[in-house]
Amino acid sequence: MKYATTPSKESTANLRSMPSQSKSKGLDTGTIADMKKTLADEYLLQLKTQNFHWNVEGPLFFSLHKLFEEQYNKIAEFVDESAEILRALKSPAPGSFTEFKKASSIEECTEEKLNANKMIDILTADHTTLAELYKERLETAEAEEETSAVTLYEDLITFHEKAAWMIRSHLA
Ligand SMILES: [Fe+2]
Repeated sequence: MKYATTPSKESTANLRSMPSQSKSKGLDTGTIADMKKTLADEYLLQLKTQNFHWNVEGPLFFSLHKLFEEQYNKIAEFVDESAEILRALKSPAPGSFTEFKKASSIEECTEEKLNANKMIDILTADHTTLAELYKERLETAEAEEETSAVTLYEDLITFHEKAAWMIRSHLA
């Protein structure tokens, strides 16, 4: 997927001069548009990881229950950082499930009965997908010299790659 690389100073100036623009979906570009998606991605993954923390069963229960708790707590920090970077860029931060579902690159999980192996497969795939997506978003943030976003994407990529490995390692 290609992301627009409009310089952020221009985006920020546009938002300042046309405050209504930021309320219209699809008009944000570059780091701001990406960060809204990132906030949505992280929020959905936080909920999904917490869902699996609550519902996991079987021989892997203790280990996964504990790991998922550590991970959703860390993801919650990333959610907050993403929203605060948006505010620092003078953009509103989306804050509803409707917006998050629309903007997220990953699917929520509505199945009530999943076995532990299926949970492992789903979360491993989600963490891997996000790590790859964030490499593209990192490039955009670097091109726009948005240093807070660059730092966040570097941290996110490291976290998601490690999380995928730690979850995947539960499979025999
Ligand atoms: Fe808990």
